[in-house]
Amino acid sequence: MRDATPGTVFLEDYQAPSYLINRTELHFELGEEDTILTSRLYLLRAVPDDVPLQLHGQELELLQLSVDNEPLDAAAYQVTDDYLLIHKLPEQCVLTCKTRIKPQDNSSLEGLYKSHSMFCTQCEAEGFRKITYYLDRPDVMSVFTVTIDADAGRYPVLLSNGNLLEATALDNNRHRVQWHDPFPKPSYLFALVAGDLQHIEDSFRTAGGRDVTLRIYVEPKDIGKCDYAMDALKRSMRWDEEVFGREYDLDIFNIVAVDDFNMGAMENKSLNIFNSSCVLAHPDITTDAGYQRIEAIVAHEYFHNWSGNRVTCRDWFQLSLKEGFTVFRDAEFSSDMGSRTVKRVEDVSMLRSAQFAEDAGPMAHPVRPESYIEINNFYTLTVYEKGAEVVRMIHTLLGAEKFRAGSDLYFSRHDGQAVTCEDFLLAMEDASGMDLGQFRRWYAQAGTPVLSVADSYDAEAQTYTLEVSQRCPATPGQAEKQPFVIPLAMGLLGDAGNLPVKLAGEEPDHDTDDNTHRVLIIDREQQQFVFEGVQEHPVPSLLRGFSAPVRLEYNYDRDALCQLMSRDGDGFVRWDSGQTLALQVISEVQAQLSRGEAAAVDPLLTGAFTRLLEDESLDPAMVAEMLALPGEGYLAEQAGEGAADVDLIHRARQRVKQAIGEAAEQVLLARYHGLASDEAYQPVGEQIARRALRNSCLDYLACANPAHLALASEQLASAGNMTDRLAALKTLAFHAEEADWTQPLADFYQDWRHETLVVNQWLQLQAAMPDAGALERVRGLMEHPDFDLRNPNKVRSLVGGFAGQNPVNFHRADGAGYRLLADVIAQLNSINPQIASRLLAPLTRWRFYVGRQELMRGELQRLAELPELSPDVYEVVTKSLQ
Ligand code: TRP
Ligand code: ZN
Repeated sequence: MRDATPGTVFLEDYQAPSYLINRTELHFELGEEDTILTSRLYLLRAVPDDVPLQLHGQELELLQLSVDNEPLDAAAYQVTDDYLLIHKLPEQCVLTCKTRIKPQDNSSLEGLYKSHSMFCTQCEAEGFRKITYYLDRPDVMSVFTVTIDADAGRYPVLLSNGNLLEATALDNNRHRVQWHDPFPKPSYLFALVAGDLQHIEDSFRTAGGRDVTLRIYVEPKDIGKCDYAMDALKRSMRWDEEVFGREYDLDIFNIVAVDDFNMGAMENKSLNIFNSSCVLAHPDITTDAGYQRIEAIVAHEYFHNWSGNRVTCRDWFQLSLKEGFTVFRDAEFSSDMGSRTVKRVEDVSMLRSAQFAEDAGPMAHPVRPESYIEINNFYTLTVYEKGAEVVRMIHTLLGAEKFRAGSDLYFSRHDGQAVTCEDFLLAMEDASGMDLGQFRRWYAQAGTPVLSVADSYDAEAQTYTLEVSQRCPATPGQAEKQPFVIPLAMGLLGDAGNLPVKLAGEEPDHDTDDNTHRVLIIDREQQQFVFEGVQEHPVPSLLRGFSAPVRLEYNYDRDALCQLMSRDGDGFVRWDSGQTLALQVISEVQAQLSRGEAAAVDPLLTGAFTRLLEDESLDPAMVAEMLALPGEGYLAEQAGEGAADVDLIHRARQRVKQAIGEAAEQVLLARYHGLASDEAYQPVGEQIARRALRNSCLDYLACANPAHLALASEQLASAGNMTDRLAALKTLAFHAEEADWTQPLADFYQDWRHETLVVNQWLQLQAAMPDAGALERVRGLMEHPDFDLRNPNKVRSLVGGFAGQNPVNFHRADGAGYRLLADVIAQLNSINPQIASRLLAPLTRWRFYVGRQELMRGELQRLAELPELSPDVYEVVTKSLQ
């Protein structure tokens, strides 16, 4: 049924625009008090009838309006909070509109705003309407010419999309530049930057021989932190040519770093704007994980030039068309730059802990949602990460070659258009001859499917049978689900390694070089697969490479998990088997602790982990991933609704960690010392792997015996890079009862207080510390001179860090953690609704937490009753309470 909440937008109501804007000319006069903008829109009616023109516009002061240079009289138009309505327009005309805005007062960081002394814009999804009256929808594409006037002293650098046409000096120490972007684009890709910026420059020659000037603009304080991103940009450009056949299409590509930014970065045509935390890097201030994130985000935004900009979305329900595809592309890039298996493990553990939770909560929605109140609430893990998994499944089903043919067809067929997920699927079908009819359910049905597998072995017949069934839990508005198409990559493990897999009645496949691996297609509720010529009872290796975003149910015994963990041919399955084993052991310890018994940690687990550490032939990065126990959030999610006991989960997980540390103490020490190196820091795979494993050894050693905290102190004193320094500091801080952590934290602040990005990490570390004083400390830090509620990075580090990474304190039994979060959200609701709404996520999981449901709901209720709730917060709060 269609819900009738006022303000809900529905996909099924989509209508093509009744006017087009062929050309858009914008003239900005930037000032300290306000900004005056004169727009000239070259309009063309696209329907036969004389319908009124309805332009979007919010928080604008209208100063003048004329049609074909004739001022409009007041009866010819109407202004409301959200629209400018103009009646009786000629079929073709030029609309001139002068408005005043106040970027200085814009704390939503949407539209035109100020970050420090710099002007910048963020228009996706619907921010352009806060700049001027416009058809602010992605299917209206226009050629933009932008003129910017500003004070030459304060704003020597003036940027917009496309090519620079001219720069001239004006009176009163002002100057003017004009930019022209030859590619028609929707308003959400418009950008403007003005400031006293410095830049680094490089160049790139495309495969077709075009020389592109590449620049990264930053505030002067950050000029020494741009080199890594420039390198990543050049690697991305080359990779997109080689792997997707996509070349850059202008002579200039700019990146600008800003400190106040709502998300990671934005792909504005030829003028990408980045959250400074996602582009600035230096070994003194950036961790290995930070470097990898920067590389991935630079690539992601660059790849949007084709998957997003040249071919864009018809409407915002199609968001995954560009985001799911681009996340898939950036993940492939990162896999090619580093270790494919490690990248896959990182992505899957994030998907399973956070996206699965979203899919199981009140905000669950399909990859292509059917309705929304506030589109900003749908830039989600489902649209991005699950959307990327859906594209990955198409890649698996078609194979690399046909997938590439589908991608080529999609780009050539739709270049310059605003299209739908359906168009993407049609191109994939047309290029491959594959029918993706039933596969489309991945776009329409929400929820995480459960794949349930049972098996049997017939020793006499030498057959092995898998019984596979699928189901999908109900989600809001979708009680019943139809079967999905699920590619199940698998193999069979025998005593001497992986066995050939041959389905009964099938000829052996001579085309494939690997007869021990295959992909079963699950497309009904229940299916049976019989393998023949199976000479021993195998252990099934299932969902290799995480071939589909599903929960797998198979009753593995611990011996089988150990076998898979040490010997399976698939790296992902080796990791996943270790996770399942750890999960089983942690649950067992939870049960023991809840009965008041002493914990008995299964030596099978500690033994398996010890052997991983002993085997120096393994990739240290993979060993580090395998040693990482499932997170507390994931364990809570696995417990199910009404069953997660945060304190018990924390205690059990710590107990297991300690047992592993004790059992492996000698090899941990040996590896900790053996992995040390005095090489100069470089953010390269081999070094990153070594540091990751070494720091994970340190973590286990500290859990095994507080005496080893001395190693952390030594490491903190001698570290030559931020990865090792922060890991050591975290080890001390997370053992607050045994370690002296206050002085090291204070010293760290003194050393790094001049680097905002480091201060943010310092805030986040303190927010995540599990000691009993955490909540009071966080309240205190909110008063710290370096904290600022208006800066999203600070809020994410401190408040987001507390609510998302400190389960025992956020879920305090007295409800004080929930209160703290709700207090901040109430304040942010008027300052920055997007950030306020994103902070709500941990509260939306209230159904899971035993003994906390009423407290959590109570805070949601309190928020629901606030006056003047933003649509962003309103939508999440009301849907969570339903
Ligand atoms: N399109 C951007 C990306 O995925 C993300 C984005 C959407 C965004 N809305 C935003 C970024 C608002 C910053 C602010 O790359
Ligand atoms: Zn994106």
